[in-house]
Amino acid sequence: MKKNCLSFFYLTFSLLLSVPAFAAEKTQRIEDIDFSFEGPLGTYERNQLQRGLQVFTEVCSGCHGLRQVAFRTLGDSGGPELTPKQVKAYAAEYEIYDPELDDYREGRPSDKFPVSGIENAPDLSLIAKARAGFHGPYGTGINQLLKGMGGPEYIVNLLKGYTEEEKEQAGTTLYENKYFPGNWIGMAQPLWGDDVEYIDGTEASIEQEAKDVAAFLMWAAEPKLNARKEFGFTAALYLIVLAILLYFTNKKLWANIKKRQA
Ligand code: HEC
Repeated sequence: MKKNCLSFFYLTFSLLLSVPAFAAEKTQRIEDIDFSFEGPLGTYERNQLQRGLQVFTEVCSGCHGLRQVAFRTLGDSGGPELTPKQVKAYAAEYEIYDPELDDYREGRPSDKFPVSGIENAPDLSLIAKARAGFHGPYGTGINQLLKGMGGPEYIVNLLKGYTEEEKEQAGTTLYENKYFPGNWIGMAQPLWGDDVEYIDGTEASIEQEAKDVAAFLMWAAEPKLNARKEFGFTAALYLIVLAILLYFTNKKLWANIKKRQA
């Protein structure tokens, strides 16, 4: 009996000791970022999405595709809300491969963004939802509930997380990044702070550009967020009213029976 107790104690003790070993991941904890689209009532900010589109176009689209997003949707309400004329002009800046012509032609609003121009650069259409920012031993779960999985937060942290160290590995250059799992990423630091001259006059900085492009990528991955939240709000309101009505109906139904018992 005594021996059993002792080994139980040992087991618990060694388990306790190993917990911090698991927790000590090398990658940094993702810093929370305030986005307009968080929370049950949060929605995208049109101006931010337009700035993010500008960063994507001028910096990221050189390597990354967005093949699930049609140019047309840039004009949808709840998105960057470009005018039809702007959408047309934007699409026309791209050369799109047309299998019917077996050639490239000017982009049209009905076309989708091209695929990644560099083979190992992932398509960014769904990246904001494919990556989680809040997880692991540090995540309490509360963040997930209130702020989503933190994909856009991860993107902001990643873009700001370069240390400017690099190394060669098997013929490719890897760049040190505090937030990339494993710390060495094949993408050179894309943002430096003066990469775009914002059309709306906002002053550019790494932080500003990173937040704007992350918001834009969140919209790309979940374009119907605004509509969904509006619907959710109406549905919640409806359920509250229903609950109140049921409560009073219930009270009324049982009133006689309770009286009889008393
Ligand atoms: C010079 C080409 C290039 C440019 C420009 C570029 N990227 Fe990348 N990006 C890459 C490559 C290559 C990878 C794959 C890196 C890897 O997996 O090691 C990558 C990976 C990523 C990832 C995925 C990271 C992960 O968790 O797997 C994200 C997100 C990303 N890029 C966002 C951006 C954004 C936003 C911009 C514009 C501000 C941008 N990239 C500009 C080449 C580029």
